Amino acid sequence: MKGLILSGGKGTRLYPITFNRAKQLVPVANKPVLFRVIEAIREAGIDDIGIVIGDTGDEIRQAVGQGERWGVKITYIPQEAPLGLAHAVKISHNFLGDERFVMFLGDNVIQGGISDLIRQFADSAWNSQVVLTPVDQPQHYGVADLDEEGRIRRLVEKPRNPPSNLALVGIYMFDYHIFRAVKAIKPSWRGELEITDAIQWLVEQGLAVHPYIHRGWWIDTGKPIDMLEANNRVLAELSHGNEGYIDRDSKVDHLVTVEQGAEIINSVVRGPAIIGEHARIVNSYVGPFTSIYHHTLVENSEIEHSIVLDHSRIVDVPSRIEDSIIGREVEVTYSPIKPKAFKMTLGDHSRVGLL
Ligand code: TTP
Repeated sequence: MKGLILSGGKGTRLYPITFNRAKQLVPVANKPVLFRVIEAIREAGIDDIGIVIGDTGDEIRQAVGQGERWGVKITYIPQEAPLGLAHAVKISHNFLGDERFVMFLGDNVIQGGISDLIRQFADSAWNSQVVLTPVDQPQHYGVADLDEEGRIRRLVEKPRNPPSNLALVGIYMFDYHIFRAVKAIKPSWRGELEITDAIQWLVEQGLAVHPYIHRGWWIDTGKPIDMLEANNRVLAELSHGNEGYIDRDSKVDHLVTVEQGAEIINSVVRGPAIIGEHARIVNSYVGPFTSIYHHTLVENSEIEHSIVLDHSRIVDVPSRIEDSIIGREVEVTYSPIKPKAFKMTLGDHSRVGLL
């Protein structure tokens, strides 16, 4: 089997973090979501992987390279515009040939990997396998309608009246019939070739589309709140350890990962949390569910339930920072210069919540 990862798209819902960066490279527990996807596919025994890229393709090529780091072979497939998930399949035909494949959205995180799923599909006569999971607000997802025997009757994209609470997770398995489907369907009202329409076409042709109900967690990191949620989930399941330096005046519990070259000085860090390579935490409090990426400084400040990207500085901030995503090379500091006021240089699409 081959793997296909979708890493194009615009990531508008994660602006400004993804204004000029690939959303799939935003780290969750200090590792880009895309790297977690590559690892999940490789763990399932697949080492020939295509990555569909768009405007942020150069950055993705630079970060992933040829895949040597994971022992896989990567082929890049440029997509001229985000014309839909089924469009991404269409343009990947040359790479995929007639082999069975798994398609994984490059911004999705799933508990427990996909090895079992892949094994089931690889040994089956099914033409496709889709992954479904119960969600609270199915109207925001592609939703499956199952019959009494648990077979797929119908798939609908973001239905106003959802036929069930079973949403399509961003992992799909197909055989070559999908190429007929993506040719047969027309763009939706939003101008995209929808993968739900292509799968619906398979169902209508009487082909075998097997639904797999996933019971663990699954997160599509589309919005900032989802990113924080994914960070929580992954941090909670990480096996933690200390490879950095913690001074004697600090209190760091066993649910904290301290990466190489990181320093914790006179601070309290409560896990689950991760402190990245060469990051420094000085006279500060870092609370649960926080990821501090590499080369970032937190000094005389308090932060929890947040993600801070690399090379940022959070210094002398008088109130605790919570529920925040802070980008790269950002400075959040106390300003003693009068007048006493908030002084901000915020980029396009920034969001700030003040007390
Ligand atoms: P989406 O989250 O549906 O789209 P997006 O990334 O453009 O985000 P937003 O709605 O915030 O602007 O995409 C899911 C994944 O699939 C994501 O990793 C991007 C990728 N993708 C493609 O590679 N090609 C496409 O044509 C589309 C629509 C998405």
